Amino acid sequence: MSHSKESDELVFFVNGRKVIERNPDPEMNLLFYLRKKLGLTGTKDGCGGGDCGACTVMISRYDAIAKKIRHFSVTACLVPICSLYGAAITTVEGVGSTKTKIHPVQERIAKGHGTQCGFCTPGMVMSIYTLLRNHPEPSPEQLMETLGGNLCRCTGYRPIAESASSFSPSSSCCQMNRDGKCCLNQKEREHENKANVCTKLYEKEEFQPLDPTQEFIFPPELMRMADEPQKKVLTFHGERTTWISPGTLNDLLGLKRKFPKAPLVLGNTCVGLDMKFKEVVHPVILSPSRTLELFVVTNTEEGLTLGAGLSLAQVKDILDDVVWKLPEERTQTYRALLKHLRTLAGQQIRNMASLGGHIVSRLPTSDLNPILGVGNCILNVASIEGAQQIPLNNHFLAGKTDANLKPEQVLISVFIPVSEKWAFVSAFRQAPRQQNALATVNAGMRVLFQEGTHTIADLSIFYGGVGPTTLSATKSCRQLIGRCWDERMLSDACRLVLDEVTLPDSAPGGMVEFRRTLMISFLFKFYLDVLQQLKMRDPNGYPDTSKKFLNALEDFPLTIPHGIQSYECVDPQQLPQDPVGRPVMHQSGVKHATGEAVFCDDMPAFSGELFLAVVTSTRPHAKLISIDASEALASPGVVDVITAQDVPGDNGSAEERLYAQDKVACVGQVVCTVAADSYAHAKQATQKVKIEYEDVEPVIVSIQDAIKHRSFIGPEEKLEQGNVEAAFQSVDQIIEGEVHFGGQEHFYMETQSVLVVPKAEDKEVDIYVSSQDAALAQEMVAHTLGVPKNRINCHVKRVGGAFGGKVSKPASFAAMAAVAANKTGHPIRFILERGDDMLITGGRHPLLGKYKVGFMNNGKIEAADIEYHINGGCTPDESEMVIKYALLKLENAYKIPNLRVRGRACKTNLPSNTAFRGFGFPQGAFVTEAWMTAVATKCSLPPERVRELNMYKEIDKTIHKQEFDPKNLRSCWEKCLENSSYYIRRKAVEEFNQQHYWKKRGIAIIPMKFSVGFPKSFYYQAAALVHIYTDGSVLVAHGGVELGQGINTKMIQVASRELKIPMSYIHLGEMNTVTVPNTIGTGGSTGADVNGKAVQNACQTLLRRLEPIISQSPQGSWEEWVNEAFTQSISLSATGYFRGYQSDMDWEKGEGNMPPYFVFGAACSEVEIDCLTGAHKNTRTDIVMDACFSINPAVDIGQIEGAFTQGLGLYTIEELKYSPEGVLYTRGPNQYKIPSMTDIPEELHVSLLAPTPNPIAIYSSKGLGEAGMFLGSSVFFAIADAVAAARKERGLAPTLTMNSPLTAESIRMACEDQFTDLIPKIDSKCCKPWSIAVA
Ligand SMILES: Cc1cc2nc3c(=O)[nH]c(=O)nc-3n(C[C@H](O)[C@H](O)[C@H](O)COP(=O)(O)OP(=O)(O)OC[C@H]3O[C@@H](n4cnc5c(N)ncnc54)[C@H](O)[C@@H]3O)c2cc1C
Ligand code: FES
Ligand code: FES
Repeated sequence: MSHSKESDELVFFVNGRKVIERNPDPEMNLLFYLRKKLGLTGTKDGCGGGDCGACTVMISRYDAIAKKIRHFSVTACLVPICSLYGAAITTVEGVGSTKTKIHPVQERIAKGHGTQCGFCTPGMVMSIYTLLRNHPEPSPEQLMETLGGNLCRCTGYRPIAESASSFSPSSSCCQMNRDGKCCLNQKEREHENKANVCTKLYEKEEFQPLDPTQEFIFPPELMRMADEPQKKVLTFHGERTTWISPGTLNDLLGLKRKFPKAPLVLGNTCVGLDMKFKEVVHPVILSPSRTLELFVVTNTEEGLTLGAGLSLAQVKDILDDVVWKLPEERTQTYRALLKHLRTLAGQQIRNMASLGGHIVSRLPTSDLNPILGVGNCILNVASIEGAQQIPLNNHFLAGKTDANLKPEQVLISVFIPVSEKWAFVSAFRQAPRQQNALATVNAGMRVLFQEGTHTIADLSIFYGGVGPTTLSATKSCRQLIGRCWDERMLSDACRLVLDEVTLPDSAPGGMVEFRRTLMISFLFKFYLDVLQQLKMRDPNGYPDTSKKFLNALEDFPLTIPHGIQSYECVDPQQLPQDPVGRPVMHQSGVKHATGEAVFCDDMPAFSGELFLAVVTSTRPHAKLISIDASEALASPGVVDVITAQDVPGDNGSAEERLYAQDKVACVGQVVCTVAADSYAHAKQATQKVKIEYEDVEPVIVSIQDAIKHRSFIGPEEKLEQGNVEAAFQSVDQIIEGEVHFGGQEHFYMETQSVLVVPKAEDKEVDIYVSSQDAALAQEMVAHTLGVPKNRINCHVKRVGGAFGGKVSKPASFAAMAAVAANKTGHPIRFILERGDDMLITGGRHPLLGKYKVGFMNNGKIEAADIEYHINGGCTPDESEMVIKYALLKLENAYKIPNLRVRGRACKTNLPSNTAFRGFGFPQGAFVTEAWMTAVATKCSLPPERVRELNMYKEIDKTIHKQEFDPKNLRSCWEKCLENSSYYIRRKAVEEFNQQHYWKKRGIAIIPMKFSVGFPKSFYYQAAALVHIYTDGSVLVAHGGVELGQGINTKMIQVASRELKIPMSYIHLGEMNTVTVPNTIGTGGSTGADVNGKAVQNACQTLLRRLEPIISQSPQGSWEEWVNEAFTQSISLSATGYFRGYQSDMDWEKGEGNMPPYFVFGAACSEVEIDCLTGAHKNTRTDIVMDACFSINPAVDIGQIEGAFTQGLGLYTIEELKYSPEGVLYTRGPNQYKIPSMTDIPEELHVSLLAPTPNPIAIYSSKGLGEAGMFLGSSVFFAIADAVAAARKERGLAPTLTMNSPLTAESIRMACEDQFTDLIPKIDSKCCKPWSIAVA
């Protein structure tokens, strides 16, 4: 199809304004259109694949049959613009703005501190807004279902959940406490009774009410269009694809015959992903969204017939309605479908994906097909030749030609019969995350009994996730017909099913033993479930199943998180206008919520701007023989291809090249970039660059490989105290072991982004970059271009999350883009796609810890010899510093009198790992807690007693001989024990465990001593520039970067206190390298500390200059004093400087003062695990943190909760997977799961310890950016506790240490039982595994 053919007009509305597109490109999605064509940049791009929710918008359509307007949320990144004919779109800009009026949703999320970096916020706002359009008073369940499709990496969700549930009528009471009481009211009262303790972070009373009567104005024109009787075929021609939308079924069938290969696109959630990520091009796409026959619902005695075009959300609503009306025995299949429809994908995808698309795409992990398969459903299909019925059975699901749709056929509807009286249907799924994650394994199972008996008349079992498509255990089921529903049948069924549904040892997706175990664990659940139902029907006919076993059937509920945050109120004597110590809202909170906050890629296009896409190495270790870019250069829109040869200055260092030069050292190393007139063109051309490699041995992937080949970065580092060898001689017991700790992806919601704008004169360049370290980006660009730094101005307005991942990496991307700008002479926009970002940029260092620990029988540890290796990847980056930090902080809260720690960074052929929140501490201290637990296990002592026994008790010295007072460490620990009612709950956990066999609870409390900062003094310096203008307004600039952590808000609070003026006088714009030169990267938890001191210094200078004027006219106003100063030619501008803290770590001697101060804390977590699936639910966490005098308790608590949640992800669900050749498989949120709202503890309480002075830091505060991360490990140890309970009950030996992350796979496989015993162990030497551990 050629682009020159005439297209129809595409008509839709955006935020009430009519849009007419005369030449819409069928390959263009709504997200791109909004952002790049309409300039509506509030809608963000976080993944491009429907998984993160950052691009959520609301679509409203007039339903001509129901005569109703339907509002639903969608992920704009998967909506083709051509599908929008007749739709009204509302984006975050259409909801409210600071220029007009903000909407209550925007107000509450901002004032409720539900935004940090703000990148996820517009998507959150749109999800909640759409829910409120449909349900002005949503239930907590509706809120949870709605927000499951939106990810946030900063806040830890609790404040977002709280803001959203303020619209729920039940929000005044949590109603979720297991004992039925409202924990909030009770706890709030308890806290408020204590002097000076505040529990309010905002004033709910200020919130504007939601006015549900405020009607959405749906454009009448769109109603007329929908009602149009003569629907013509609409055709839109693009460059490579033609979109045809027939108006009638006849037209559709005719077109399907004409274009049999053309996909029918409804939700586009399958086709769209293939087009975007697999470069699939469809010359013709058919869109049946206007074909009414595909949306018909018929409900008869026999069952439901659902139009194939209905969305999964509509299917859910229909089923919800039907199950209320029919007796339970008739709705078995419907209930099973409903169970999965609550957690399948996120709400947006359920709103988009069609039933027909779901069935026909036959994804191997489809949640619905196994249920539809067992439910004897029938597909009603049609072609121009006529109608046909196809059974939705194993042949269809296996894609057998004779049981399949023919290319010219269309699925019109699906008949789902009601269930027979003696039939039972169940559905099961286990996924890496409860919501919005494809299942690891799922199943649909149905049994039909001979009337009134428990003899099997018919049985069907379908599994997903264990093969290339949904698989049926047909043979096994046939063999079981006639058998009684008893344990012998179950045991035979397990064996038969395992024999029939086989999974090769090296099956794609890995986790083979786990997946096999799940298959039969589900079978067992089904067995129990049916027994239970039979028993309910005939209480005397069946034996009782012990209560102890029955809760195996209960799935964990989706519960909305809530909690109490308590902190010290400000002194009542403090002036009301002085904001220090108060929970001030994030400076950009409202702009985040309205979408007005500008991120790097939101900046308008520069004239002549080009887009850059990367070509990365596909080999882990190879010589670069040649790069042939000729075909790419001839591609449409391509301007140039940039390689190492084009670098005018330094191409990085010999160890760390910018563009690969002569060789590549990992899969994912940037070889070249393509510059083109659009990102799509640049990306397409990257496929055409031909690179010739010559492989080089060895390929080193894991730490073990590196040790074998002695491949290291830097020397071994060591610290030692006492006499380790001698102490080992006198202890009661010694344990030795290893702990493997996996890496972590930063998953900042805004991917790496940079804009490079060459200026006309003197080789000047402006860089707009999402970076924690503007000066480093400036330096690298200068070196790469071979110009002095004074020509490069690097600007950072705000960063959409960083967590350490935007310290060194953005500088490389800025330099690459600068080379492209230099070569082409054009401004360059370089925004990494999520997949490229995850592949290229590395993350947290995986760590292998070896320990030998000597202790007395009472749990007192006398000696430890610890060795760490981290996987640094292929370049040094920050690896040497990370290993040093891991050693310095390894002891955590414990005094081990005889301690030797050694560590080394390994050089491997993986992308280079880099800084990550906590910088070695979350790995290093975790290993310490692991062996601390192991000691407790060996001594048969409660772990908290061993921890307490070994904890620092009085003023003492760390392993690096720095003196400190552990008083606040002990206070945090004791307060945490008290707040969590630890001992009472530990008892309750034990009681629960005695009463339940398949579910176990665990509880753990972990202390923390965290060293803030850097081991070198110069890292602490900071500078600021403060101007007072003659109207009295103040402009503050400082060297820190706003990453979402609220540094700018705190700096305004500091300036306000120092200058004694209200915050409204003070503005803080972007940071750049012209205003404040030679800045230090923002990180190490010290940003606000050191920049605060610099701002304070500048403000004090200014105030000193103003003081003579003020004392002459004390009654004057600020504006008058400022004007008078100007008249007297007194400078109203001052720089501020803070020289920094002293750090004198001497590695030769192994001693020195490293951090300026320590942050202490403790966390207690409780979990429940499902021993049959490995799923877990975080029920409650109590955190106590020593924040001293918090400058802003809302910001600090936000940091603690956000870091804790990121830590919880690190230790439990986030798992990077690599092939044996070092290829990263997990390259997007579809494969890599960060916590979503349902993963955080149902109750999350944070309390700041009553302040004590910390005179070294500004206003006696503490830096809290990183510390909370480690406290996530309390969840790990609570799970380990639950696993230990399960193992003990089963008579198994305790597992001394478990590896991180403690995923569902590890939990399930550790809870060994009769089912795991049936699974043959894989011998990794006999087959090549699909993935390998790199630590
Ligand atoms: C982020 C995300 C998360 C997901 N999570 C889950 C999950 O947890 N569980 C799960 O089971 N699935 C999940 N999915 C998969 C999702 O359920 C399917 O992609 C979706 O149901 C496909 O429907 P669609 O309308 O979007 O199909 P489309 O992409 O529009 O079409 C898919 C295929 O079906 C064909 N087709 C569509 N309609 C018809 C018809 N009427 N007649 C003939 N052929 C037709 C098309 O030709 C095409 O080949 C997820 C998808 C995404 C993007
Ligand atoms: S960008 Fe659309 S869901 Fe992530
Ligand atoms: S605030 Fe949610 S991702 Fe940053």
